[in-house]
Amino acid sequence: MKKQLLALAATLVVGVQALAADVKVVVSADQPGPVIHRNIYGQFAEHLGTGIYEGMWVGPESKIPNVRGWRKDVVAALKDLKVPLVRWPGGCFADEYHWRDGIGPRSKRPVKVNTHWGGVPENNAVGTHEFFDLVEQLGAEAYVNANMGTGSPQEAAEWLEYMTGEGNATIVEQRRKNGRDKPFRIHYYALGNETWGCGGNMRPEYYADLYRHWATFLKTPAHNRPKFIASGGNDTDTTWTDVLSKNIRHNFDGIAHHAYTFPTGRFEGKGPAAGFPESDWISMLSQVKKIDDTLAKSRVILDKNDPAKRLEVYFDEWGSWYDPEPGSNPGFLVQRNTLRDALLAALHFHVFHAHAERVKMSNVAQMVNVLQAMILTSKDKLVLTPTYHAFKLYTPFQDATSLPARIENNPVYKVGATEMPGLSATAGRGKDGKLYVGLVNSNANQPAELTLQVGTSAPKSVKGQLLTAGAMDAQNELGKPAQVVPQAFEAQAVDGKLTLKLPAKSIVVVAIEG
Ligand code: AHR
Repeated sequence: MKKQLLALAATLVVGVQALAADVKVVVSADQPGPVIHRNIYGQFAEHLGTGIYEGMWVGPESKIPNVRGWRKDVVAALKDLKVPLVRWPGGCFADEYHWRDGIGPRSKRPVKVNTHWGGVPENNAVGTHEFFDLVEQLGAEAYVNANMGTGSPQEAAEWLEYMTGEGNATIVEQRRKNGRDKPFRIHYYALGNETWGCGGNMRPEYYADLYRHWATFLKTPAHNRPKFIASGGNDTDTTWTDVLSKNIRHNFDGIAHHAYTFPTGRFEGKGPAAGFPESDWISMLSQVKKIDDTLAKSRVILDKNDPAKRLEVYFDEWGSWYDPEPGSNPGFLVQRNTLRDALLAALHFHVFHAHAERVKMSNVAQMVNVLQAMILTSKDKLVLTPTYHAFKLYTPFQDATSLPARIENNPVYKVGATEMPGLSATAGRGKDGKLYVGLVNSNANQPAELTLQVGTSAPKSVKGQLLTAGAMDAQNELGKPAQVVPQAFEAQAVDGKLTLKLPAKSIVVVAIEG
């Protein structure tokens, strides 16, 4: 009996090994899906803490090298990232922002108090002209968020006219006097932000009516018409998607949803950015499923209310949000950025790719020094975060054509009562014609081995990059050697089989060669 049991146990072990070896990622290159809009890789820059002031804007007089006030080092790093789009000026800040405070000679601009973020003075040094200078330096598109909280339909309409007007109306002449002859090119214009909360505590029905009213007066030359955005729901709440898509018709191109991820799942007592247990690691990564579920739900609603599929879905704020860095101004939303954030970003990309039919734009919160930032600065120094590197790895997916990527025998990753699929995969045909595959191994301890197939055959080889590190909370800190940097990754087929070995807690993005 004992012998039989031992034999059975041995068979089971062999069986488990065989199962592990059988993990397979199959890309269907013959089933092209929608294009992954490059603006899915958009960014968010708000007047918040050192996100803009210090982090990016130092002013033309600064000793820190700059072009018309914007830091050269930060702009160069963001250009390298191929940032396709920047949203500005908020956030909650947008609903107290009066655009006229930010035009004309900087020395004459009014100083206000940033009541949302830290109660610090806001001198309006960065206004409309400076923002467009930034996006033009980056070669990015512009997303401007109008004030529906404390503004008026007239103010929102006139801002648009100021930016896009071409004739000799006084407001357009004013723009010219302020140094800009040709109109600014604006790609997205939103009315309000989080109108369910900091933007006015509205009900969706009330906001829908208000939007209909205000949107009536948004006018631009036809060739410079932005997409008009309504502020949507939060987290998993799709009520707003339903109400807005049922009730708004005119000047309405998309709905902006927000979804942040907190380790504890709660806004109050979010959990630390570093020095966390594995249960916090899996808690963050497994929550990306809620984005997937919310999008699936939103698509069902929209397919009913907008069968022509005209409306787009935007995630114009997403990312990790932790307890503030000890010793920092809690209103500045300063947090560390670790390997966990890089994987969180990559998993978001996979979800956005999967819903590329409706999701045409997203903005990670935020670009520099705030929340899940790409870059952290201190005086004249900067550091590229793990999230920066995740964004960099996925640049080939900007405007790629999505392709189905199926995982067979996906191992389960479990910590305590929380479990999630160990592996995640995405694929696309890049604009350069190459086939790209993105893979995430969420398991913090176990490496994964998988075979990669395109249809029924194995590619000859793959080449790309790997992002991983020794610790779950590995980070890149100023003055210390960077712990999270991309490494070259490649693999060749052997006997008609291409095996990829993914370290624990890693991201791999490869191009298929042959
Ligand atoms: O990104 C920080 C804040 O989060 C934004 O201002 C607001 O829209 C959201 O609540």
